[in-house]
Amino acid sequence: MFNKDFSFGVATAAAQIEGARYQDGKVKDIWNTFCEDSEHIFDGSNIDNACDSYNRVDEDIELIKDLGCDSYRFSIAWSRIINEKNEVNELGLKHYREVCEKLVKIGVKPCITLYHWDMPQFLMDKGGFQNKECVNWFSNYTDIVTSYLGDLVKDWITINEPQVIVTLGYRLGVHAPGMKLDNKDILEVVHNLLKCHGSAVKIIRKNVLNSTVGFSPCSRGVCPERRDDIKLEEACKDKYFDLGDDFWFVNLVSLYSDTVFLGDYPKKYYEMFKEILPEITKEDLELISQPLDYIYQNCYSGDYYDFDDNNELIKLPLRLGLPMGDLDWLKVIPESLYYVPKFLHERYKLPVIISENGDCCHDSVSLDGKVHDPNRIDYMYRYLKELESVSKIVPVKGYYYWSLLDNFEWAEGYSKRFGLVFVDFYTYERIKKDSFYEYKKIIKEYK
Ligand code: GAL
Repeated sequence: MFNKDFSFGVATAAAQIEGARYQDGKVKDIWNTFCEDSEHIFDGSNIDNACDSYNRVDEDIELIKDLGCDSYRFSIAWSRIINEKNEVNELGLKHYREVCEKLVKIGVKPCITLYHWDMPQFLMDKGGFQNKECVNWFSNYTDIVTSYLGDLVKDWITINEPQVIVTLGYRLGVHAPGMKLDNKDILEVVHNLLKCHGSAVKIIRKNVLNSTVGFSPCSRGVCPERRDDIKLEEACKDKYFDLGDDFWFVNLVSLYSDTVFLGDYPKKYYEMFKEILPEITKEDLELISQPLDYIYQNCYSGDYYDFDDNNELIKLPLRLGLPMGDLDWLKVIPESLYYVPKFLHERYKLPVIISENGDCCHDSVSLDGKVHDPNRIDYMYRYLKELESVSKIVPVKGYYYWSLLDNFEWAEGYSKRFGLVFVDFYTYERIKKDSFYEYKKIIKEYK
């Protein structure tokens, strides 16, 4: 059992579900551009229609209502709010206001992510997050959205997974905007992104009465193979926060979270990059480390670790027969939802909310017309059991299943499915999977 105030939800993101590419004054975003080269996307698809959720608000909200969710986390498409002439697009704002009104009406709290990876292309043309000006662009956008929706929406997430934006988008070029920058430029992007976050927090506080604010980085669990060994757990914790050799990937917990929660970049960061660091002022760090309410964290997977014969901590290979999701990084390591909240809370002290967790399975419609997804159900129970157990010692306030719907899985296109609801990408028909009914049961029974 979780505490009474624990919140269950589902999460989505605008670019992955909305479609409606040419409707109501939307301008081009970086994913529209990125998909123009079909080589970028596994199945050569694009986001022009996605799940067509922009036109199916009632249907999708009915699904959320049926689940009995306390909260719905979704993102706003920046490209629906401001156009190339820097004008505000009233139609876009109106759309999101309607979504929020409908949610509030059925007692579901909207939780809005301001940036889930879809920068307007005209801002990318000016350098995107490489251009220092991005802080002003993002602040302006945040100001418009939060002053328009602040009466209805209290829960705000500034930026989703800065690690992925930086590494996949600006360094490896496998996500939009497809850049391959060198380290010096990348460090500039990191700093600018963090400043965007800090400035947005200030604006949300000004515009929204009784707001709660956070950002949602991601991480993999660094899980001790044996649970009763304190020394091993401590070593795993150190590893979790270490900048490491795999420097640019998702294990960059402390690069973003130390700076945001503790007010400065990790010492090792200054040492590693002393020759190429951008200018980092005291004012910048103050801006970046505005007080927050929650430690949001997206967490899907992890690894087990143990000491080797020389007492060095090593990552263990996947034990044969252990469950795997339908993506090579998606090992099913449920203890991640125990150790990630524990480690984060011990270091940053705030309550934790899991802003994304879910399984990708090879789902299809069976002969009986239903979608049976036992692996997703098993995943959900295993992970929630761990989260429930850690909630006895750490304040854990909520959990969002990723995702409500099968959707556009970025560079994987529509080939990978995370939804509780199956989407037919030709007709947009929605079919509730077995896991939908099971999550509904969990929401009812776990509280
Ligand atoms: C996260 C991302 C989501 C979703 C999910 C599943 O990194 O925030 O948008 O795609 O992964 O891979």
